Amino acid sequence: GTTLKAAAAEKGRYFGAAVATGKLSTSAYTTILNREFNSVVAENEMKWDATEPQQGQFNYGGGDRLVSHAQANGMSVRGHALLWYQQQPGWAQGMSGSALRNAAINHVTQVATHFRGKIHSWDVVNEAFADGGSGARRDSNLQRTGNDWIEAAFRAARAADPGAKLCYNDYNTDGINAKSTGIYNMVRDFKSRGVPIDCVGFQSHLGTSLAGDYQANLQRFADLGVDVQITELDVMTGGNQATIYGSVTRACLAVSRCTGITTWGVRDCDSWRGSDNALLFDCNGNKKAAYTAVLDAL
Ligand code: XIL
Repeated sequence: GTTLKAAAAEKGRYFGAAVATGKLSTSAYTTILNREFNSVVAENEMKWDATEPQQGQFNYGGGDRLVSHAQANGMSVRGHALLWYQQQPGWAQGMSGSALRNAAINHVTQVATHFRGKIHSWDVVNEAFADGGSGARRDSNLQRTGNDWIEAAFRAARAADPGAKLCYNDYNTDGINAKSTGIYNMVRDFKSRGVPIDCVGFQSHLGTSLAGDYQANLQRFADLGVDVQITELDVMTGGNQATIYGSVTRACLAVSRCTGITTWGVRDCDSWRGSDNALLFDCNGNKKAAYTAVLDAL
């Protein structure tokens, strides 16, 4: 293939990008998006603060715009993210206990129901594990409602949209380490008890090197019986950016249950990592060496 999406499709994978829906009217942006990518995820517009700014009042404008763009251009949609400790609306930040638990589960049910049938994979829960060596859950208002909040969210999402693949998504899980092992143990427990989980997302916000066991880590999750996806890939410049992009792509292809790769933006100037110039296209929309490395690896 001569584009990311065509080359990925030949290998049975998708190739996606995070999209800020406000940029869909910029032709320089949309030209690249439509040419190269066949999966999209909202960079912010499907998060809790965007979709339920006041309790019980839902705003699906940005998410609906992205879904229509995807449907009109043959792209699948990743849903991101139903529950997360960040980008919560102010009203939820101030809640706790059963009031917060009920509000959170209602949020999952309402949003997953609104988008039912339109989402390939949902990040049901994002970033619920702590960094560092504990392997434990991250402290958050959601975690303080009880350790079962994650499985309650997955059950609610399954009931609301039985056709969507349901993912747990996190970062600093780019090798076999305490954090990824904590998540691994949760997924193994969920599978053994029938909690509905289908996939694990590896954000892969990478620095100047890649863990040597990146592929082995993906494989151990796949061996639990879930799909794995690279969900927010971006790589700092200053090291071997192109080499790292190529290695991540080859790792995904080497794991049969790695179903797709998403970069967290399109051009360097679209990236939340700003001066890292972390993406595959420069600010003028030119293909970088990292682009060629990915295409060659696909
Ligand atoms: C980032 C967005 O890119 C920014 O625009 C926003 O200001 C903050 O969130 N992990 C995630 C994403 O799961 O939702 C985050 O996106 C980047 C880190």
